[in-house]
Amino acid sequence: MRILLIGPPGAGKGTQAVRLAAHLSIQHISTGDLFREHIAHGTELGQNAHTHIGAGLLVPDEVTIGVIKERLARPDTERGFLLDGFPRNLAQAQALDGLLADSKLRLDAVLDLELPEDQVVRRIAGRRLCRQNHEHIFHVGYSPPEVAGICDLCGGELYQREDDREATVRKRLEVYRNETAPVVDHYQAQGLVTTISAHGQVHEVLHRALDAIG
Ligand code: AP5
Ligand code: ZN
Repeated sequence: MRILLIGPPGAGKGTQAVRLAAHLSIQHISTGDLFREHIAHGTELGQNAHTHIGAGLLVPDEVTIGVIKERLARPDTERGFLLDGFPRNLAQAQALDGLLADSKLRLDAVLDLELPEDQVVRRIAGRRLCRQNHEHIFHVGYSPPEVAGICDLCGGELYQREDDREATVRKRLEVYRNETAPVVDHYQAQGLVTTISAHGQVHEVLHRALDAIG
């Protein structure tokens, strides 16, 4: 199965993507996580991405599309994949359409997570991530770790993302409205989009997503 997960920053894409990918036995591919790994390893690509991420802007398309092209070429995607945070503008959507067409593959579904901005801001403000594994996501109020600052799953240190500062979040939301929202229309025209409310508890949103996939 090949699925896209779209939605504003903080809607819960990463939280849902981990669960959906495990349930469907497909690869979870997050461009944000791939960039953060590059940054942590101090690669040249990471240094370039860091400047854009810190400003709340998109990493340039040629870099992002290159990263995705390389990741999708790996054999572990043969069973399928869930893309989280890609595509984020029309140029990326067209590039993905081209990559899939070259391999004679099609998308099965595009899930569009919806959440009002005041809730998005609340979710981002309390988010804490694990340094050992970016798929270990917590929230100081909604899903706190048992011991403050320590990951329940692996004992790693929890930290707050640099781009989760208020001014950067406002910029990310603006970029989402201007550049990413049109991607939903692009896939709507292909009849692939299901809009899902991201309100409520994690398991409730997961059930909605699984129902949408069928
Ligand atoms: P990326 O890492 O993709 O960030 P994002 O899209 O802004 O999304 P977030 O990770 O902020 O939120 P999320 O929706 O995954 O929410 P989460 O599950 O963590 O991208 C970061 C940056 O990288 C971009 O700004 C850009 O610079 C660059 N980039 C990435 N992809 C790119 C691309 N394709 N092109 C160019 N640049 C790119 O949940 C948030 C919080 O809420 C957590 O604390 C969680 O515990 C909590 N939560 C989740 N669900 C619930 C619930 N149901 N109830 C209560 N709390 C919940
Ligand atoms: Zn962890």
